[in-house]
Amino acid sequence: MIPRPPHAGIIAALDTGSPQRAEALAEALAPHVGCLKLGLEYFVANGPAAIARIAARAPIFLDLKFHDIPNTVAGAVRSACALRPAMLTIHAAGGPAMVEAARRAAEEAGPDRPAILAVTVLTSTDAATLASTGISGGPAQQVLRLARLALDAGADGLVCSPREVPMIRAAHGAGPLLVVPGIRPAGSAADDQSRIATPEETADAGADWLVIGRPITAAPDPAAAAAAIAGSLRR
Ligand code: C5P
Repeated sequence: MIPRPPHAGIIAALDTGSPQRAEALAEALAPHVGCLKLGLEYFVANGPAAIARIAARAPIFLDLKFHDIPNTVAGAVRSACALRPAMLTIHAAGGPAMVEAARRAAEEAGPDRPAILAVTVLTSTDAATLASTGISGGPAQQVLRLARLALDAGADGLVCSPREVPMIRAAHGAGPLLVVPGIRPAGSAADDQSRIATPEETADAGADWLVIGRPITAAPDPAAAAAAIAGSLRR
């Protein structure tokens, strides 16, 4: 499994469907970040071979958020492991048997297996949305419930928002790998993110990896932007 970075590490989110753009960004960013995140937009458009080309340049966070019956998720994790990703995502809401099946399937890949990260409540989901699906009590309570479920069932870590890091660390200690999007360096545009924190704040709160997209990829010089954030984390 990918080692935990000594300071919070950077995962650059390559949110594009274009293989040319992803490969250019990967080449520019690989020296400055610990991992590159590719998601459904890229995978659905370009397939596994295009993932493998990026994986040749840097460790990959394959963010496909699996959620299905345990047997199907186990098969998807096995297929994904052929691409040798460093991290994979699943939905904790799939339940303990699904999370356990994902972990077992990942272990078949041996010591270089991907970290299995569970997504709890998507940040686009508010209390009203949760209530409409029959879940009362609000997002914070649901995040904690699903975090416990996922970690007890064998997830290596969680994807969570900056504001959730302290409560998850308080409940689960230093063990779980916490991977955190919604990061904005001071002075940069919030874009469509509503609950943001700076890289330094998020690292100090106890995040292991910071997922950063547009502040890097939309910068005039993405490599310089990534290098500047990495420098601010090593202070
Ligand atoms: O450009 P930006 O830094 O906002 O990109 C953040 C990345 O993290 C995107 O790939 C987004 O899909 C992902 N993400 C997020 N919030 C979550 C889960 C994932 O912003 N709760």
